[in-house]
Amino acid sequence: MVQIKQKEVLTSLLQKAYWIEVEMEQLVVWESRIELMGDDHEALAILSNDSDGHRLIVEKWLNKAKIPIPDKTPPGLPVKQFDFAGMDSREMFREIMKYEILARDTYTDIENADPAIIYEMFDDEQDKDDFLSDMNTLVNDEEKHRKICDNRVGGYKTIY
Ligand SMILES: [Fe+2]
Repeated sequence: MVQIKQKEVLTSLLQKAYWIEVEMEQLVVWESRIELMGDDHEALAILSNDSDGHRLIVEKWLNKAKIPIPDKTPPGLPVKQFDFAGMDSREMFREIMKYEILARDTYTDIENADPAIIYEMFDDEQDKDDFLSDMNTLVNDEEKHRKICDNRVGGYKTIY
């Protein structure tokens, strides 16, 4: 695994994580909700509600670390527009899954960053521990989301 050793890289990843939650996951899930017209409502509601919750967590840490909250797409992330008209639900969940994996891997990289730069980011020892524990929760949540999608891509219909 490539470990992040620069504070600037960690800062940029946190901003990207924020954008993935606030923009990309919301767009892809809500486009699916529109096209599926109520089908798979429960699974899609979990994905969009959790993503809203994740945004709040990332926002809290951006504020604590005094990192500006992005108001436009951070460099590196594509500007996406989704049009799922004519797709079946399996294809839509395959698209959503890409963003769940992207989010999971982004939080994994943040969680595994060099502890020295996490220390540098939060001078409070407790903040550092709480940050790492939140990142771990986010990794696990995104992996749950990936499974929710994978079950539907594979044609199974269990929620968790
Ligand atoms: Fe998320």
